[in-house]
Amino acid sequence: MKKLNSASFRTILSALLITSLAACSSEDPVEEVATETTYNTELNVQELMSLVLEPASDILWDSGGWVVDASGYEELWPTTDDGWAYVRAQAAIVVETGNMLALPGRAEDNDAWMIYSEGLSTAGLLAMEAAAAQNKEDFFDAGGQLYSVCTACHQAYSPDINNRFVDPSAD
Ligand code: HEC
Repeated sequence: MKKLNSASFRTILSALLITSLAACSSEDPVEEVATETTYNTELNVQELMSLVLEPASDILWDSGGWVVDASGYEELWPTTDDGWAYVRAQAAIVVETGNMLALPGRAEDNDAWMIYSEGLSTAGLLAMEAAAAQNKEDFFDAGGQLYSVCTACHQAYSPDINNRFVDPSAD
């Protein structure tokens, strides 16, 4: 049996809606337009990665943990309410990027791609909650979870990316 995916279900639904609208009123084009769902997916996945997701994620990874260098030990977590609010906003970008990747026209399939996209949103929400609570340990863990979602999706869909990707915990 062929599985009906959500994209084809939506197509059938809007076709039905348009047919029934056309049947009862052909002089009302406004209603017809309103039944169509269109997304602007002009930015491709590569642009979404490099312009939206990576900058936000980098800020998260640079805002948790600690570094030890010649000048001593330094903690990276935000130290002010504004600082935590800022990283929480970056985490919100990560949450929404999960949805952007799942849009028809961007999603590569209706299977693992969707699971990784959702995983991105889940990790982003954890980071948002930890930032709201200013909980350093949870924030750090959310960053780790986020990193594993990135690498898992790249491994599946664009394996060469992982080779140029630097492990944030390695430095
Ligand atoms: C749902 C799958 C998926 C997830 C999750 C994902 N990526 Fe990607 N990413 C891709 C794909 C596919 C490409 C290759 C895009 C291309 O070149 O067409 C890519 C490419 C990239 C690139 C290279 C962009 C360039 O300029 O060539 C970067 C950087 C990147 N991802 C960062 C991230 C980060 C950081 C995360 C996690 C916070 C992440 N990605 C999560 C699928 C994903």
